[in-house]
Amino acid sequence: MAANPTEPSGRKLKMGIVGLGVGTAEILPAMASTGKIDIVAAADVNPRSLEAFRARYGGRTYDSVEKLCDDPEVEAVWVATPNKFHAAHTIVAAERGKHVVVEKPMAVSLQEAESMIEASMRNKVKLICGHTQSFLPHIRTMRRIIRSGEVGRLCALNVWAYSDWMLRPRTPEELDIDQGGGLAYRQAPHQVDTLRLLGGGMVRSVRGATREWFGARPIPGYYSAFMEFEDGLPANLMHNGYGYFVAAELVPWGGRKHHYTEEQRVDVRRKLRAGTRDEFQDKEALRIGGDQERLTADRAKKKPWVPNDLGVLVASCERGDLRQSEFGIYVHGDDGTKDVPIVTASSDSGRSAELDELYNGVVHDAPIRHSGQWGMATLEVCLAIMQSSRERREIRLSHQVPSPDTD
Ligand SMILES: NC(=O)c1ccc[n+]([C@@H]2O[C@H](COP(=O)([O-])OP(=O)(O)OC[C@H]3O[C@@H](n4cnc5c(N)ncnc54)[C@H](O)[C@@H]3O)[C@@H](O)[C@H]2O)c1
Repeated sequence: MAANPTEPSGRKLKMGIVGLGVGTAEILPAMASTGKIDIVAAADVNPRSLEAFRARYGGRTYDSVEKLCDDPEVEAVWVATPNKFHAAHTIVAAERGKHVVVEKPMAVSLQEAESMIEASMRNKVKLICGHTQSFLPHIRTMRRIIRSGEVGRLCALNVWAYSDWMLRPRTPEELDIDQGGGLAYRQAPHQVDTLRLLGGGMVRSVRGATREWFGARPIPGYYSAFMEFEDGLPANLMHNGYGYFVAAELVPWGGRKHHYTEEQRVDVRRKLRAGTRDEFQDKEALRIGGDQERLTADRAKKKPWVPNDLGVLVASCERGDLRQSEFGIYVHGDDGTKDVPIVTASSDSGRSAELDELYNGVVHDAPIRHSGQWGMATLEVCLAIMQSSRERREIRLSHQVPSPDTD
């Protein structure tokens, strides 16, 4: 019988990290707790970070990616250096026979992305373009529901984020768009990857705009874009990182319900279809002194989903809308709303899914979903948002690849 690719084979993957920054700090605990990965070494140019790594994980440390990749025990390298180094560091690793997970954005240009893919193919190593929120259990569950067809064909995608991304501490290179700084390089990959995964992958064209309006941050802190997929599927995405308003304030749990109750919406929809709705009275009910009451939700308090840097995502299908709920996915369908629980081992992070993909790819030779070609297609969209903004026109795309045909 064939081995189950999701089960550890008993052996651990020997991992090296290059770039012990903020991003790595988030992923290291997940890596350390998978039971599938041994963190054996790290490289950075910051001696303090190397010392902290040694103290906590006990691995070997190096002051360059080359030295890390010369370590014969290292099988795979997690590239989490600044964006401008992603291509060079990936290629160094591939040339020394190491598998690579590269942080988003995969690279700063399509030429760099092409070189990375070419190096991984020539050296027969796996290249995974991580680590975006498309791996999140919520998104994977949403995708499963869409693929099941239970609410019909996918008709539209919308995602919007309001975050404090621009207020977090930044290095000089992060404040330089030529080195991959700004929201469209750093945050658009999360949304684009997610929309492509849900929408089938093949984006036909993009019209986008980036803006900056906070003098202390000379990089775009806002973008909005309209993507049209090859099959006509429309998708809107936007992110405002200036932090005056953060979308986390919008989660309804603990807050007040809006407009109608579930039963009222079912009733209204039925009446509209039947042509029997009293529009005037319903409108009056919403006005001052009307009887529509906003209720306080009383929900469990353990680790609920809140709109983060991905934002609020709504997938509209023929017979319903899907969006993230506190612990799963709301399916707002013809008969009301169901709250579908997420079906993964990890309920609060996408880290385990991503590490599984790496592990299964390397150890079991399972297909890589977030491959080099996939990452390049996402990068193409992000670059097109910026190009469209500069040139004030729609950009046609030519490097798109379809979503993998699996859940
Ligand atoms: N996917 C996510 O959720 C997420 C979150 C944060 C960061 N990131 C990504 O991680 C990358 C790094 O971002 P960050 O916020 O961690 O930045 P950071 O500045 O905190 O980390 C970068 C690290 O790379 C080191 N470094 C710089 N030049 C180096 C070199 N030549 N060789 C070895 N090490 C070098 C720095 O000393 C630093 O420790 C970016 O590509 C970013 O997009 C992803």
